[in-house]
Amino acid sequence: MDVTVDVARAAPDGASAIGVPVAADGGVPRERVDLDRATLEASGFGATVGETLVLPRADGPTIIEIGVGTRAELGPAAIRDAAAAFARAAVRHADLAIDLTGVASEVEARVAGQAVVEGVLMARYRYRAFIDRPNEEHLARLTLIAPSNRGRAMATGAQRGAIAARAVNTARDLCNAPATHLTARRYADLAERLGAESGLEVEVFDEKQLAKLGCGGLLGVNAGSAEPARMIKLTYTPPGRPRGNLHLVGKGIMYDAGGISLKPSDAMHAAMKLDMSGSAAILGAMTTLRDLGCRTAVTGWLMCTDNMPSGTATRLGDVLTTHSGRTIEVINADAEGRLVMADGMDMAAEEGADAIVTVATLTGAAMRTFGSAMAAMLANRPALAEQLRAAGSATDEQVWELPLIRRYRRQIDSAIADLKNMGGENAGTITAGLFLEEFAGGIPFGHLDICGPMMTDTDDSWRSIGATAFGTRLLADFAINFRRPA
Ligand code: BES
Ligand code: ZN
Ligand code: MN
Repeated sequence: MDVTVDVARAAPDGASAIGVPVAADGGVPRERVDLDRATLEASGFGATVGETLVLPRADGPTIIEIGVGTRAELGPAAIRDAAAAFARAAVRHADLAIDLTGVASEVEARVAGQAVVEGVLMARYRYRAFIDRPNEEHLARLTLIAPSNRGRAMATGAQRGAIAARAVNTARDLCNAPATHLTARRYADLAERLGAESGLEVEVFDEKQLAKLGCGGLLGVNAGSAEPARMIKLTYTPPGRPRGNLHLVGKGIMYDAGGISLKPSDAMHAAMKLDMSGSAAILGAMTTLRDLGCRTAVTGWLMCTDNMPSGTATRLGDVLTTHSGRTIEVINADAEGRLVMADGMDMAAEEGADAIVTVATLTGAAMRTFGSAMAAMLANRPALAEQLRAAGSATDEQVWELPLIRRYRRQIDSAIADLKNMGGENAGTITAGLFLEEFAGGIPFGHLDICGPMMTDTDDSWRSIGATAFGTRLLADFAINFRRPA
């Protein structure tokens, strides 16, 4: 999907649907369709966020009134949601324009430009790799109509929105790809290509190099698989002196069958091609850093393999040795994410990171706790937690903090190794976080468990059905605003 995004003073000739934002309070715009508030309300249109009213016209483009809610609550999240609703209401239109002449300040213009483009481009995403017929929902162009003195600010925002949305949609393509098509090897090839296009250095470690590095966590999970594992290292070097050195470690389980702790063939198991969503969010976010002007040095570690049962698979009771030499007793082969992440964190810690942030579809418990609306966040420094929370709020990829309760640490003690890979029945997200923290080497550590929001069963605002690539925009924002935590 390559959409042309423009900012102009008026709708271009080809635009076949024009969106007109309408607030739920104050005056209604009447330049394009002369309907007053009472008439709009009589038709059932209350102008709340997500509401749209489609007004076809015989002699010109369709006008779509877009509810944006009350003026007091009008922020980027409402604008993004409203833009997504517009994109969906105009789903058969390929050439869209949206009238933003009402924005008053430069800041508003930049923020609105970015949020509108993100909302429209993400909402019109479809995974079509296996569909050959023509796409009736194709989007070719989006024009933002700006007041003459706000065109530049809006264009800056629109450009940033397009960069972010493209990264999200690329990450969604990777997540939605079936596991047999997107193996760890192929993923590494694609990462090399995406990295080259976006100014990242990409280094791929194959099974021989992983053995040499002693990455026994990643290789232990890979043991049951016919496909070899890969560790993908992405490096972003900003121009000038970096403001900080951030390491991101992503779970890249290409398919999680549960290993010999085989999952039942239910709907959750059927979603397990998405178990590499954490790594895809990191890859997507990192492709934007150069173009968004990030001043932080960022290194990504994508830990990639599938988790299959077979005669060669890791058995329960086996002990794996990670890169740092720490040993882990495997008591459940389905708690594999933390095993591959341990090696990635060892690598990051060795390089002297200012902070290590892990992103993973790690525990069903996080989904039980929060549902699909937010990710669980854990951190061992309040300043880091606050930065993650702020990035989540700025991008409307919400996170909520759970505590790293030290009393539960002993649940992952092992009688025969340094650690075991699962705690008790309860507080599974927290014990998983405590497990990961062991590999942070005392460095400030943050963790996002994105299990709940990784996918959506239905189109929901800018989340299109399937993989959401949750975390992509959050991580980009977090990296850009990163400050070394005290
Ligand atoms: N990939 C799963 C977690 C998951 C579940 C992600 C549902 C998305 C949707 C993870 O590897 C897993 O199997 N976790 C286990 C951990 C348990 C064995 C300690 C779980 O949550 O049951
Ligand atoms: Zn998993
Ligand atoms: Mn698992």
